[in-house]
Amino acid sequence: MSDLLWQKPGVAVDAQIQAFLAGDDVLLDREFFLHDIEASRAHAQGLQRIGMLTGEELVGLERELTTLAEDFRSGAFVLDERFEDGHSAIEARLTERLGDAGRRIHAGRSRNDQVLVATRLWLKEKLARVQALCREVAGIALDRAQAESALPMPGYTHLQRAVVSSAGMWWAGWAEAFIDNAQRAGETRAWVDANPLGTAAGYGVNLPLDRAHTTQALGFARLQVSPLYAQLSRGKFELAALEALNSAMLDLRRLAWDLSLFTSAEFGFVKLPAQYTTGSSIMPNKRNPDVVELMRGTYASVAAARTEIEHLLSLPGGYHRDLQITKGALFHGFGKGLAALALLPDLLRNLDWDAGRMRAAIDPSMYATDLAVDLAREGVPFRDAYRQAADPARWAEGDPQASLSARVSPGAAGDLRLDALRKRLSDASSSA
Ligand code: ARG
Repeated sequence: MSDLLWQKPGVAVDAQIQAFLAGDDVLLDREFFLHDIEASRAHAQGLQRIGMLTGEELVGLERELTTLAEDFRSGAFVLDERFEDGHSAIEARLTERLGDAGRRIHAGRSRNDQVLVATRLWLKEKLARVQALCREVAGIALDRAQAESALPMPGYTHLQRAVVSSAGMWWAGWAEAFIDNAQRAGETRAWVDANPLGTAAGYGVNLPLDRAHTTQALGFARLQVSPLYAQLSRGKFELAALEALNSAMLDLRRLAWDLSLFTSAEFGFVKLPAQYTTGSSIMPNKRNPDVVELMRGTYASVAAARTEIEHLLSLPGGYHRDLQITKGALFHGFGKGLAALALLPDLLRNLDWDAGRMRAAIDPSMYATDLAVDLAREGVPFRDAYRQAADPARWAEGDPQASLSARVSPGAAGDLRLDALRKRLSDASSSA
């Protein structure tokens, strides 16, 4: 490993302790290394603006930061255990290439605000991705709701056949869920969109740092004002981001549950596209819905990441090294969650209903509620109508298509109101 930035003369480094301190931290820093480089560029510009770097030094630093980013992308520079972390790797490289200009860049900053700014930049991108995927899912669900509004499907409560419903109603439910999830990701992104760079180790620094410049250069919507709160908010904004992701994962888990039930021979409502199924190593007949099962199970990884971070935050004020552990949890949670979510749009676009099986699963008892409501509409008090409609002899009067049309007709409770959902989706798309 290169010399540690903080090493004291005469204090020997113990390999086992160093290995424990290091863990996989430097490897995790690969995830937001490019963001750390961009924040370093903004910080250097800010230093030049207050006379802490010459124009020439800034030109050299910016050039070397660009080269480092390119080398990292191409694999010519590998961020590995030679360095304590990504932050010191950037400084080491700048010093190696530029000498004093590299040694000057850390004036007015700490790895504590470096990690904060890199994490916030990274999270803004990830939350934008969550938001975009949720919007895409909602759009597909709305289109299919429209196309399949008249396709009868049993409606269940307690997993028992309840009333006549439609594929359109099923789709519209998921559409609204994912509009909510998109909105939540967008709102969380706006909350995370604050610049902590310049708060140093959590107590500011006695330099007139140009924080307005770094805020604008990095594309943040606002400044994170209090240096102490910049540190106190570490872990808290990661939690909020994971909760926003989790909101989508909760719906993904239930949707995947529906699909794994519906694709079973017992239901037989849905045929999953072949790529989303696997076979068995022993049972040649099997066609297993592994993909939807892993989508469902991914909820656990995101929830675990959230829980790990929550437990880490039992700390007094100021920076503590415990906070470093939030990083692995955050990257793991978002990595798994986004990978699952990213498969959802195509899955939904391509799944096929078996209309015959769905219609066959609608038995006459499922008209009972509609009959009771029809009688009530004719003037029979609902409690009496309810009793009359409980008589199986009357169920034969039911007609699935009529029942369904009545339920989804304009003004009825089951009216899909797809226009209202479309409007919300477009509002969610135009706001940040
Ligand atoms: N890897 C560290 C983290 O994620 C960076 C900050 C180190 N700061 C310190 N004072 N040791 O928290």
